[in-house]
Amino acid sequence: MDTRAPARPARLTRRRLAVPAAAALLALVAGCTGSPVHGRPGAAGLRDPYFPKAGNGGYEVDHYALDLDYDPADGVLHGTAVITARAEQGLSSFNLDLAGLKVEGVSVQGEKARFNRTGNELTVRPAEDLTAGEVFRTEVDYSGRPRTLSDPDGSKEGWIPFEAGGAGGAVALGEPVGSMAWFPGNHHPSDKASYDITLTVPRGFEAVSNGELRSRTDAGGGRTEFVWHSPEPVASYLVTAAVGRFQVSDGRTPAGVPWHTAVAPGEAAEAGPALARLPEMVDWGSARFGPYPFSTAGAIVVPEGTLTYALETQSRPVFSGAPTEPGLLLHELAHQWFGDSVSPESWKDMWLNEGFATYAEWLWDEEHGGVSAQRRFEAFLAGDTSVDGAAGSDWAAFPPAEPPSARNISDEPVYYRGAMVLHRIRQEAGDERFFAMLRGWVADHRHGNASTKDFTAYAEQKTGLDLKKVWDVWLYGKDRPH
Ligand code: TRP
Ligand code: ZN
Repeated sequence: MDTRAPARPARLTRRRLAVPAAAALLALVAGCTGSPVHGRPGAAGLRDPYFPKAGNGGYEVDHYALDLDYDPADGVLHGTAVITARAEQGLSSFNLDLAGLKVEGVSVQGEKARFNRTGNELTVRPAEDLTAGEVFRTEVDYSGRPRTLSDPDGSKEGWIPFEAGGAGGAVALGEPVGSMAWFPGNHHPSDKASYDITLTVPRGFEAVSNGELRSRTDAGGGRTEFVWHSPEPVASYLVTAAVGRFQVSDGRTPAGVPWHTAVAPGEAAEAGPALARLPEMVDWGSARFGPYPFSTAGAIVVPEGTLTYALETQSRPVFSGAPTEPGLLLHELAHQWFGDSVSPESWKDMWLNEGFATYAEWLWDEEHGGVSAQRRFEAFLAGDTSVDGAAGSDWAAFPPAEPPSARNISDEPVYYRGAMVLHRIRQEAGDERFFAMLRGWVADHRHGNASTKDFTAYAEQKTGLDLKKVWDVWLYGKDRPH
C-alpha cells in the first residue's frame, strides 16, 4: 500500500474531482451541460491513505435511522437503513459501503432506485439525478447473516456472534472498516452523523447500542424492541449493537452524567467491581479534558474471549470480559474525548486517538498512587523492566504519525510513542499550559474531525512554543528518540 499518499484525502479539502471523460461524453449525448443540476457519479472511495475505498464521495450523511431485527438462534439480520444525506455535487449515482448481506430494495426520495454491487460497494442510481446541495433520503432494505470481517492486522470486526453457555448473542464492531458488515453507509470517520437505532430481538434478550435508550417495548410475536438515540455526531466505526442475555444497570455519575451498562451474565461477578469505577472515571475525564462530550455513558461487556481487544464505541465502549484492569477501562473512557468527540480525519491520524487515550492512562495512574508520567516516560526510553509495559515494548519501531501500512495502525508506537509525544509537549510547556492546550483541543474540535497537522499547529499556537524539534524527532522521525 502506498503510504505516501497525501495525508489529507481529497474530500477533506472538498476538492471536486474532474468529470471522467466517459461521463462527460454521456452528459453531452444526453444534452446535459455539466451544471450542478445534472449529475455525475459520486466517488467510490475517499482516498484515505490507508483505506482508499472506505467512504464515498459526492454526499455527506446527516443521519442514519437503522431498524434491525436479529435472531441469535439463526444469526439472521433483517435491516432497513434510512440515510439522510446532502449532495455535495450533482449526482447521477452514488455509493454506499456494504459487505455481504442481500439487498432487497433501494429507494431514493421515496422512488424505487436501481442498484448494483461490486465488492463492498453498493452503487445506487436514483430515478432522478440529485442536485448539488439537495438533502435526500435513501432507504435500503437488506437481510442475511452478517459477516465477521478480518482487520488488516488480523483481528475480528464487523458482526461477531458469541456463545456463552448456550446463551448466545452478537456484537457489532467497526474499527476500522467493520461497520459495512451490518449497515450500508458512508463508512469513513470523516463523515459523522447522528443515529436512531431500533433493535428487535427475541424476548429474553437485551439489545444495546450507543446513546440514550428511548424505549423498550413488547413488539409482539415473542419479541422485544429497543430504541436507541445518539443525538451527537458519531463516526460510523464507533457505532455498535450488542444482543445478548445481558444484565443491565444504570445510574448517574456524581457529576450527573447518566450511565447504562450491559454485562454478559458469566462476566457479572467480575464486572461489578470493575465497572464500579466507571462513574468516577467519567467525572475525572471531565475535570481533566473538559465536559464529558455525550448525553450518556456506560459500557458493554461481552463474554471473555469474544474479541482480542476492547473498543471505544461511542458512549458505550465494548469489553471482551470484565475490564478488571483499571487502565483498560480508563483508556476506553478517555477515547470518548479523544477519538469519539474529536475524531481522526483519516486512518493515518490514529495516534490522535491511541496516543492520547494511553497518555490519559498515565495521567490517571500518576494521580491515583501509580508511577508518574515522567517516570513512565523515562522507563520507556530506558527499556526499564520495572515499569509496567515499558520493557520489551517495540514503541520506537516507527514514527506514530506515519505507520508503515494499514496493518500497523494499532501497533505499539501509535500508543506508546504517541503518548510520549504528549509527554514531551508537557515537558516543554509545563503543566498549566499543557492541560490548557489539551482542553482547548477537545473544545475546538468537539464533535468534529482533526488531523495531525491540525494538532501540531494548535499545540504551538496554544502554548506559544516552537515545537518543531518534538514533531521532527518524536512524531515523524524514523530513528529511536533518546
Ligand atoms: N481502539 C482500540 C483501543 O481502544 C483498539 C483497536 C481495535 C484498533 N481495532 C482497531 C485500533 C483497529 C486501530 C485500528 O485500543
Ligand atoms: Zn485505544
